[in-house]
Amino acid sequence: MNFFIKNSILEKEQTDCIVIAIFESCQLSDSANYLDKCSNHYITSLLQLNDIQGKIGDTLILYNIPNVISKRILLIGCGKKNELNKSNFKKIIKNSVEVLNKCSIKNVIYSVSELIIDIQDNIYWIVRCLLLSIRENTYKICKINSFKKNDVHHLYQVTINILIEHDLYNAQVSLKHALAISDALISAKNLSNLPPNICNPLYLANEAQKLHEKYPQNITVEVINVEEMKKLGMHAYVSVGNGSKNKPFMSVVKYSRKNSADKKIIALIGKGLTFDSGGISIKPSANMNYMKYDMCGAAAVYGTMIMAAELNLPLTIIGILSGCENMPSGQAFRPGDVLTTMSGKTVEILNTDAEGRLVLCDSLTYVRRFSPDIVIDIATLTGACVTALGKSISGLFSNNKNLEKQLYHASQQTDDKIWSLPLDPEYQKELTSHIADLNNTGTSSQAGAIIAACFLANFTKQYKWAHLDIAGTAWRSNKDKGATGRPVELLCQFLLNQSNFY
Ligand code: BES
Ligand code: MN
Ligand code: ZN
Repeated sequence: MNFFIKNSILEKEQTDCIVIAIFESCQLSDSANYLDKCSNHYITSLLQLNDIQGKIGDTLILYNIPNVISKRILLIGCGKKNELNKSNFKKIIKNSVEVLNKCSIKNVIYSVSELIIDIQDNIYWIVRCLLLSIRENTYKICKINSFKKNDVHHLYQVTINILIEHDLYNAQVSLKHALAISDALISAKNLSNLPPNICNPLYLANEAQKLHEKYPQNITVEVINVEEMKKLGMHAYVSVGNGSKNKPFMSVVKYSRKNSADKKIIALIGKGLTFDSGGISIKPSANMNYMKYDMCGAAAVYGTMIMAAELNLPLTIIGILSGCENMPSGQAFRPGDVLTTMSGKTVEILNTDAEGRLVLCDSLTYVRRFSPDIVIDIATLTGACVTALGKSISGLFSNNKNLEKQLYHASQQTDDKIWSLPLDPEYQKELTSHIADLNNTGTSSQAGAIIAACFLANFTKQYKWAHLDIAGTAWRSNKDKGATGRPVELLCQFLLNQSNFY
């Protein structure tokens, strides 16, 4: 799908469809007004029939518009003019894409740049939200079926009309960012949606290594295998992988801009359990298939590295994909085992299904060698987080108020929602053990998301750290089954803000 930015003469454009906005009680947007005048008030005359009210989600297609070359005009309802925001703008675009697809439209012009969804950088956000929603709503899972046939979308050319010439520059910047973020989202989703017999820890490592081939100037990749992990003392991480014939691999993707004076080092660590059966503390079989998505944190890091390289961000970013598979077998680690982590702290295993924190605690210790200023881990860590926040909001934990604020700000900018939960020292007493420094589950059945974060906090004292629990937000179930790509947009925005872009 190709996107263009243009300051066009709407009525003269040869296209399948022009999309324009109307508001409640049939108020016209600037673009609608313009085309209404061109067409001798064809639009207002049709609106008098009351076939569309202008409520959010309303759509109406017009044909044979006098003095307009486009084959169609699609009116989209945008509700009350001053009540529009990014979230309902995305819904409106979603609706429009559904209509375009039903009509098998190939070529479209969106003329919606006059809508207001942001106070400061409106054009930037209009273009970005528009492109990302179109890409989101035309995304198809790569099927593995005997027909070798994939669902396709007809839409292949989208022109974004910018009414005011002066806005063209910001629109171009936005288009560039949006394309990079969209590539990041699609890469993350594609990786996450793969079945676990294909996407195992080695596969993740191979995909990571390909990033160096694609961006040889900016990205280098180091893959740590199980023997090297043992030498490093990463026994918590190694133990989680013991039960599987698919050995663990930790991929370390290093991005930096050539000749960049910027010294800020940011590390992103993604939980990459390509399958989490629970191990000896095996999970119930219903819904176990969803545990192929237990690598969505790693996939989000992978995607975010792609956006950094595409935009040549002035930062140093260390992206770690902590790949591992948690399986039961005669070689598997057990409840009762005491493991020595890379940090030297020992952990008594009470439940082998609390494996994410074991893989992460050693990755969090490993990352110290890069002296990062900021470390963010991203993990489908606890079912308890889904209970606490549901499927719309990811959990945020941090040992630094400023970092917490910056992440929250990025989340508000992108509508990729997160909410802070406390890392209170009170909870540490749940993590004591009669034999080791820590236990891996906590001894009560309450506040599971917080206990897990408090476990990780024991390994993150050396830097500013945040933990994103994406257990509820990383994928959708049932008929919409598939990865969401979250929190890729949030991470991308956080990095853009760190780079002093928008
Ligand atoms: N990957 C799961 C968390 C999870 C469960 C994410 C369901 C999304 C949906 C994680 O490894 C896990 O199993 N956590 C346990 C921890 C418990 C044993 C302390 C959980 O949440 O039940
Ligand atoms: Mn588990
Ligand atoms: Zn898990």
